[in-house]
Amino acid sequence: MSENGAQRLMGWMSCLSDPTRLRLLHLLTEHELGVAELCDVLQLPQSTVSRHLKVLADREWVHSRHRGTANLYCVRNKDLAPGAKKLWALAFEQAGPWPTFEQDHLRLDEILTRRRANTFFAGAAPRWQSLRGEHYGYSFTQSALAALLPAGTRLVDLGCGDGEMAAVLGDAACKVVGVDRSLEMLTAAEARTVNHDNVRLLHGDLVALPLPSDTFDAALMMLALTYLEEPHTALCEMTRVLRPGGRVVIVTLLRHDREDSRHEMGQLWPGFDPDELETMITKPGLKDVRVRALRPAPGATGPVLLLATAKK
Ligand SMILES: C[S@@+](CC[C@H](N)C(=O)[O-])C[C@H]1O[C@@H](n2cnc3c(N)ncnc32)[C@H](O)[C@@H]1O
Repeated sequence: MSENGAQRLMGWMSCLSDPTRLRLLHLLTEHELGVAELCDVLQLPQSTVSRHLKVLADREWVHSRHRGTANLYCVRNKDLAPGAKKLWALAFEQAGPWPTFEQDHLRLDEILTRRRANTFFAGAAPRWQSLRGEHYGYSFTQSALAALLPAGTRLVDLGCGDGEMAAVLGDAACKVVGVDRSLEMLTAAEARTVNHDNVRLLHGDLVALPLPSDTFDAALMMLALTYLEEPHTALCEMTRVLRPGGRVVIVTLLRHDREDSRHEMGQLWPGFDPDELETMITKPGLKDVRVRALRPAPGATGPVLLLATAKK
């Protein structure tokens, strides 16, 4: 054995001759941990833990890397010298079962549970919505909510546009009929709902619906009311095709004075006051009318929206 080899061996053995360092190696073989976490597990002050970590790092038992403002330590098994690896295996075998290792393990489990609960979401809370959207998109929330529809629900989507809602609702409802007067929008809606046998798209005007009376369990009118020459007639038609007890959901714009935006979007009405909308919806005989402004979506550039619900 060369002198260098002997010195190396004694260096390794002197590392292993200390109980705190044995405990550190035991913990860091399985997990990457910061000094504060190690202090909690070992129940020792930071100065003591840091001193022992330095000894282990100098002898290349442990490696560290920066994460944020902290250093994380671990034993990288693949980087250990073969002799050190054998020596550690022997030391571990001879030491166990050591109640101190057991105790350390229990405290470590507790700390890891806390870390899992805290670290990611503590940092992510303020940007969770954008992370959620980036990772999973936005449509699954609609799909999940649509799945709450009672079995057998028949829906009519008035001014269905390019069929976004009809497709989502078609996954959950028994039958969806979309009505729109724009052939281009209906073509887009057909493409979107091509796999839905239960979605029917109709070319028609909301003031004279090509549908029988007392048929649907629910009627939606999303962002269409400001385009209608005769909103009152359209609301009467909506009421007519609902079965008694059927539900209404309308989303439209809160009254605004942005004429440029109204013209750009081709709208006839500058939105509605909540009271005005409530009166409009009550007139055809709908009950339990509720109107409220929706929380503006972050980054949305258009006017605030109103949500109205009612029952026939
Ligand atoms: C702003 S888009 C909304 C589309 C869809 N509801 C949505 O939320 O994405 C308004 C839709 O209402 C349709 N529309 C407007 N006036 C209509 C009328 N009198 N009869 C039928 N459809 C109409 C338009 O063609 C357009 O597709």
